[in-house]
Amino acid sequence: MERVNFTQMKDGTKEEYEFLTAHEIDHTRHTAQRLLKALVDLDESLSGYQITRLGHSVQSATRAWRDGADTDWVVSALLHDIGDIYAPYNHDEYAATILKPFVREQCTWCVATHGDFQMLYYGHHLDGADQHKRDRHRDSAYFDDCAEFCERWDQASFNPEYDDLPLDFFAPMVEEVFARTPYDAAVIRSGEREPLTNAERAAQRQ
Ligand SMILES: [Fe+2]
Ligand SMILES: [Fe+2]
Repeated sequence: MERVNFTQMKDGTKEEYEFLTAHEIDHTRHTAQRLLKALVDLDESLSGYQITRLGHSVQSATRAWRDGADTDWVVSALLHDIGDIYAPYNHDEYAATILKPFVREQCTWCVATHGDFQMLYYGHHLDGADQHKRDRHRDSAYFDDCAEFCERWDQASFNPEYDDLPLDFFAPMVEEVFARTPYDAAVIRSGEREPLTNAERAAQRQ
């Protein structure tokens, strides 16, 4: 079979749906490569800053990596603004939706809400904006993690002089994350928190 015969889904046969499932699995295998390509496309979005959105993404991931953050954190930092192209009004939720089946819940939550947390840094300069929008998330177990994510990796990563690692450096991490079994409880680890930095990890061990 090269393609199905049906023109309405309700007319498809078991054989056709098995054929499509196999196709879908093959397509899924290339998610990481598609995301890396989408990141390169970010180079063309949002002018006005000293660095491009791709530069900002790579710099965020570089800082996460140098802080000793684990793979879930580093990949989340790399992809946190990938929604800028198609979802300018909810780019955080868009990125979180992509990450959700494959990284820790803690990381997904921080990516999903980082837009509200980032307001802390510029909300007071904009008419009608709420600088303390993040306060609506105070009850979350991940509040401090997102505050730190934004302080260390997001708001700090607009520096054209910073020594970024190349995007290729992060490709194997993106490949590893998106090759995981989706929604694996051992990955999602609902409610569990991993520190963002080596220093915090060391302090926890004492
Ligand atoms: Fe963002
Ligand atoms: Fe960002």
